[in-house]
Amino acid sequence: MTVRRHLTQVDMAKIVSLSKRRGFVFPSSEIYGGVGSTWDYGPLGVALKRSVKEAWWRAMVLERDDIVGLDSAIIQSPQVWVASGHAAGFVDPLVDCKVCRGRFRPDHVKVYKVVGRGGEELGLVSAVGNALGEVTKEIVERGKAQAKSRGKEFGSLQEAGVATDYPAALIPCPNCGAAPGSLTEPRMFNLMFKTFVGPVEDTASQVWLRPETAQGIFINFDNVLTTTRMKPPFGVAQIGKSFRNEITPGNFIFRTREFEQMEMEYFVKPGDDEKWHDYWVRERHDWFLSLGINKDKIRVRPHEKSELAHYSKATSDIEYLFPWGWGELEGIANRADFDLKQHAKHSGKKLEYFDQEMKERYVPYVIEPALGADRAALAFWLDAYDEEPARAMGAASEGQAPGASDEARVVLRFHPDIAPVQVAVLPLSRNEKLTPTAREVHASLRKRFVTQYDDAQSIGRRYRRQDEIGTPLCVTIDFDTVENDNAVTIRNRDSMRQVRVPIAELPAAVAAQLREMGSTRA
Ligand code: GLY
Repeated sequence: MTVRRHLTQVDMAKIVSLSKRRGFVFPSSEIYGGVGSTWDYGPLGVALKRSVKEAWWRAMVLERDDIVGLDSAIIQSPQVWVASGHAAGFVDPLVDCKVCRGRFRPDHVKVYKVVGRGGEELGLVSAVGNALGEVTKEIVERGKAQAKSRGKEFGSLQEAGVATDYPAALIPCPNCGAAPGSLTEPRMFNLMFKTFVGPVEDTASQVWLRPETAQGIFINFDNVLTTTRMKPPFGVAQIGKSFRNEITPGNFIFRTREFEQMEMEYFVKPGDDEKWHDYWVRERHDWFLSLGINKDKIRVRPHEKSELAHYSKATSDIEYLFPWGWGELEGIANRADFDLKQHAKHSGKKLEYFDQEMKERYVPYVIEPALGADRAALAFWLDAYDEEPARAMGAASEGQAPGASDEARVVLRFHPDIAPVQVAVLPLSRNEKLTPTAREVHASLRKRFVTQYDDAQSIGRRYRRQDEIGTPLCVTIDFDTVENDNAVTIRNRDSMRQVRVPIAELPAAVAAQLREMGSTRA
């Protein structure tokens, strides 16, 4: 079924406000004033992220014969990170402000030219890429101050790249606005979090929190090979938390220091790697489309040579058009034999495959589709956001409270296999005649579908609430149900169609409607 979406301009402010109002994501440690760029998933957020992870696991492991799962430790031997190159090479450039002590990644600092009223250039101002990707009032004020200090009238600001495009000495501080000359020259900063194992805090006990789940797979290559008898081409998939001490995290849950990865390492015969790289780029792109992502908002972008990570022979990113521009959703890298060879060298163990038929031994090449669960959930969420004018939906017929019909209808058009709640069970009111039947209906659905029971407030407000959290179907129990026909109404989020269904046929009718909306699971 095709649903006509409205031309909704979704911005992050709307998503952040909906998130807080409905319980998707909360700022972490909020009662203590929060910790920068750290978030906790609320009841709906955890359901959304879980659906995304389950959809990935099904597509990568459960529905294939050539991929198996793994769950390796977050704290591994420090040797792993020496061998992988992360101890020496996982670094970002960093500049410090000598005035406010702020630290920034210069490639994340946006630079604007201050232009005078007569079109003359009056210097630069800078800003750390903010959550809304907007030129804030504060930056404009700095531009005005800059013009005034030159005895000129302010005209406008013009985007002029990022701080790495200029000598540090020319850039004012993006945090406190201190004059050019306040920033240090860039130096390299390792992104791995350090901690200690055991009571003694010395070099011998120092370890890192993993910055990627991938290495847990490489160090278990031989274990998986000998216990499963997999043969190349085969893959090992893993979902888990990783940690990176990002200098400039931001854009809500897009870039955070603690995040969840879904990575798969696919081991192939050298020479077959380019073919498999193309295969995985197509496969992963199509996975997003199969779960309803708008095809105009997703693209594949091959990396320039200069962008490649230290282990990569070639990488293509799948990018999504976020409100602040195109951003990486997933990277599909050809890691060649870099990791297995490095671990073989550092551990002294052979990490090879012996092909019995060809009687040849080789170190497999690796194709890695690697995806952030948090940013994938954000992309599904933004993509689902829709608003329609109240009049187009016949709000009055859904029993809106007075005034509510003047409001736009906000609806998250989640794919039914991604939606945090699939079916809401709504008795017409909290009435003792309706409650027992409504509870029975709920019990008959919850074993098969992700459900929510809600009997608070008017039915119109509850429909609005379910639309706003993206529930595909609402099942309503009314007085006719208990007094006359033993049937209930199913209301469809997208078509707004309402059909009357006997309770005995309800689970099958719900499954049929979810399938019609794209579910492959119902
Ligand atoms: N394993 C690739 C990444 O973490 O980006």
